[in-house]
Amino acid sequence: MDDECYSTLIVPAIGTWPRFDSPLRLGVMASGTGTNFEALHNAITCGDLDAQIRVLVVNKAGCGAIARAERLGIRCEFKDHRLFPTREAMDEELVRTFQNEGVEAVVMAGWMRIVTPVLIDAFPGKLINIHPSLLPSFKGMDAIGQCLAAGVTIAGCTVHEVLNDVDAGPILAQAAVPILSGDNRDRLNRRIQTQEHRLLPWATALAGQRWRSATRTQG
Ligand code: GAR
Repeated sequence: MDDECYSTLIVPAIGTWPRFDSPLRLGVMASGTGTNFEALHNAITCGDLDAQIRVLVVNKAGCGAIARAERLGIRCEFKDHRLFPTREAMDEELVRTFQNEGVEAVVMAGWMRIVTPVLIDAFPGKLINIHPSLLPSFKGMDAIGQCLAAGVTIAGCTVHEVLNDVDAGPILAQAAVPILSGDNRDRLNRRIQTQEHRLLPWATALAGQRWRSATRTQG
């Protein structure tokens, strides 16, 4: 079967994109090639996601996300985790960076480090993560390899709020991706990423509705 010739299910389905009183002020975190970061940017520039990316933070020198930020004209800060004595010290620096940029919510778009309550508690309910599996299955590293090894027939991706536990927290949205005969890591990863690029902007918009209505309720 052709790579693109299969059906996919996104839950909740993509509907009308919400508009906010003012665009969501997002911080984004990435460690890798940055395709999800660029998907967020594209959803903003095409007018779907009512948001601004105030800053991208990366923790890997030379990672693809840095070059994308340069090309897209988005402020990018490199924070080398090896220079911080503890995870908490690194997260304090991330919180400072986001607060300096007026960020209201943070999207982990391929962030490959465990975060601590220092970051989670600074953005309560406003820190979200994308993971390449249908959580709660296949948490942690190499989710796609785990999924192929388990022999499941449906893979996918999940966007969830981050709690103090790896790849866990209330689920915002998921996309199911069937596993096709002859799939290997690369093929399946490619198809999952195609869905991630649709799912992450939509899940961010859904989360934004909660963030903004919570702000209104509080005051
Ligand atoms: C994405 O597939 C994302 O789901 C995964 O890293 C990739 C980053 O790709 N995240 C995790 O595995 C987190 N546990 P990208 O750099 O091209 O956006």
